[in-house]
Order: sequence, then C-alpha cells, then structure tokens
Amino acid sequence: MQKNILVTGGAGYVGSHVIVSLLERGYGAVSVDNFRNASPEVYGRLRELSGKDFAAAGADACDAEAMARVMRTHDIGAVIHCAGYKSVPESIQKPLEYYENNLGSTIALCKAMRETGVTRLVFSSSATVYGESKVLPYTEEHPTGNCASPYGMSKVMNERILTDAAAAYPGWGVVLLRYFNPIGAHPSGRIGDAPGGVPGNIMPYLLKVATGKLPVLPITGGDYDTPDGTGLRDYLHICDLAEGHVAALQYLETFTGTETVNLGTGRATSVREIVRAMEKAIGKPLPTEIKPRRPGDIAEMRADPAKAKRLLGWEARRSLDEMCADSWRWASRNPAG
Ligand code: UD1
Repeated sequence: MQKNILVTGGAGYVGSHVIVSLLERGYGAVSVDNFRNASPEVYGRLRELSGKDFAAAGADACDAEAMARVMRTHDIGAVIHCAGYKSVPESIQKPLEYYENNLGSTIALCKAMRETGVTRLVFSSSATVYGESKVLPYTEEHPTGNCASPYGMSKVMNERILTDAAAAYPGWGVVLLRYFNPIGAHPSGRIGDAPGGVPGNIMPYLLKVATGKLPVLPITGGDYDTPDGTGLRDYLHICDLAEGHVAALQYLETFTGTETVNLGTGRATSVREIVRAMEKAIGKPLPTEIKPRRPGDIAEMRADPAKAKRLLGWEARRSLDEMCADSWRWASRNPAG
C-alpha cells in the first residue's frame, strides 16, 4: 500500500490546496501546522470539499522529535514542506524570527527524515531567489542569492541546505519548486488566501478593495519600462501550483539527487491587466491610484516553465479569468477570511 505524504503548513494557503490535490489523486495526507498563520477550521473545510479524510498533527515543524514521531506514526513516504513565514516586509523587521523558523523547520524535518528513513522531499521555494535579470524569461539556470529580504534569503539558504542533505544522504531525492506569483483559490470558494492585516501582495489587496475594506488599490509604480508602465508578473492559479507538487512527488518515485523547477505560466500580466480582469470577475470598477515604486521591485518577472513540462509533465492550465473569478468567489463568501 502507498505510504502517506506529510504536508507541513497544511492549513496554510499553499499547503491546503496541496492537500486537496493529494486527496484527489488518491494519496493519503497528513498535515502538520502550528496555526500561527492559519486556522484549524481549514481542516473541516478540506474534508468537506474533498469528501475524504486525512490525519492532522498539531505539532511544530521546527521540532525534530515531534516530526520523527509523526513520520513513524503515520507511515510517511515523502514530505511536502510548505510551512514558513512569508511576508517580505515583516522579514525585514524580524530577520532572526524568519531565519529561525524558516531554516529551523527545514533542518528539523531533515533530521527527522534521516532518523526514520524517509528520503523524498518537495520544497516550497520562490522565484524571489532570482535577483533582477535583464534576460527574460527566468530559467532555473539564472543566478540566485541576490535577494533584498531575509524572507528571500531564507529560501536561498533552504535550497542550499536541502541540496547538501540530498548529496550527503544516500537515496535522498529533493525537488525545489520555485513559485512565481500564485493567486486564486479552490473553485469551491471554501479555502483561499487569508493574510492578516494590510496585505502586501496584490491579489489580497485587490480583494479588500473589492469588499470595501480598503478604499483604493495603490499601483506601486506606473513608470516602469513596460507596455502600460506597471509591473509585469507571472501569476498562476493556486490549484495549478498545487498540482505541480503532486507531479514532483511522482517524479521523485524514481529520482535521487536535487532538481530545481520553476512553476509559472510563462505569461506576464501587468497590474493594470489584473485590475481589469478582477473588475470583469466582480462586475464593478475598482479604484486605483498610481504611487511610487516599492523599494526592491523590478519591472518584470516571468518564468520559463519548459523544465516543469519536460521533467514533471506539468503545465499551468487555468486562465487569468479563472484566477480572478475563483479569488472573488473565496473573498465574497468568506468576508472574515
Ligand atoms: C512578492 C514577494 C515575493 C513573494 C511573492 C509571493 C516582494 C518584493 N516580493 O512578489 O518574495 O514570493 O510576493 O506571491 O514583496 N503591486 C501593486 N500594488 C500593491 C501590491 C503590489 O501595484 O498594493 C504590484 C507590484 O508592484 C508588482 C505586482 O503588483 O508589480 C505584484 O506584487 P506582489 O503581489 O506583491 O508580488 P511580487 O512583488 O511579485
């Protein structure tokens, strides 16, 4: 019988959608979450919308002994490591907490894997590991490490820790998934992104404007060297992203070593275009105003997704309109998040 998959951060935005994809594909899932940035209510919703059950442990991914216990108790065959702090501005205010949590969880998981004989891991990395590049799109060969924030550096360091571990321990297989800009929500409208406070990323901000909680979207930079002057990003649907993790797991059935794979669509969308797509999804205009650029922002990020297709047989299928419609369904049905 197939072993279970341990998902860290399983109540979070990415982890919860990964659990849906796993259950849909017939995997057994075990979630670990400390609920520091997520709600336990997500689990009930996941069971409802998938019609399937899964195990959950209220442990901290930074606790190696607890992780080893979970791996033994639940007959874990592989880990999908999504847990982590993820706010860029907060990471600049709290670098030590970010490094402690984001590196500590990876080290603890690796120790627990070594102790229990688990050899497969998929890691939530980010396109933020790439510094600014004049050459587009971004392939996995682009230089990394020139990150402006402790959040970004924690991803770079985690990639290195996992690469070194996979080289040192026989039979280990690791896939580092570099996400571009995941947005959207499960089409059921039951789970989605629920950041606290004033959102830093564009989609949660747009949703707060759409629900009247914030008056206007600041467009952070209208003078970039792009067709409409606003920043271009490679937005992908969270459900496509989640399916990329299952594809990586399948790849790991026969692969040992470390592979790095971009998850993106290969298409760039401007801030103005995403605002228009959201207006279409909502059916009303959304107020915007041009503001200064955010420090450290760049004009364009766009993935070369060819390796994901070649290696994992994965490509993003869902459109920008679906991303916006699904985001809106989630936000309008769950005004409290
Ligand atoms: C950000 C993070 C990145 C992280 C990713 C997760 C930074 C510098 N980078 O990427 O590390 O992995 O989120 O999704 O924070 N924008 C506005 N108004 C806003 C917010 C954003 O116009 O209120 C614009 C930005 O200038 C940018 C685009 O929208 O052009 C996307 O911004 P955002 O959603 O914050 O994502 P990134 O900055 O690409």
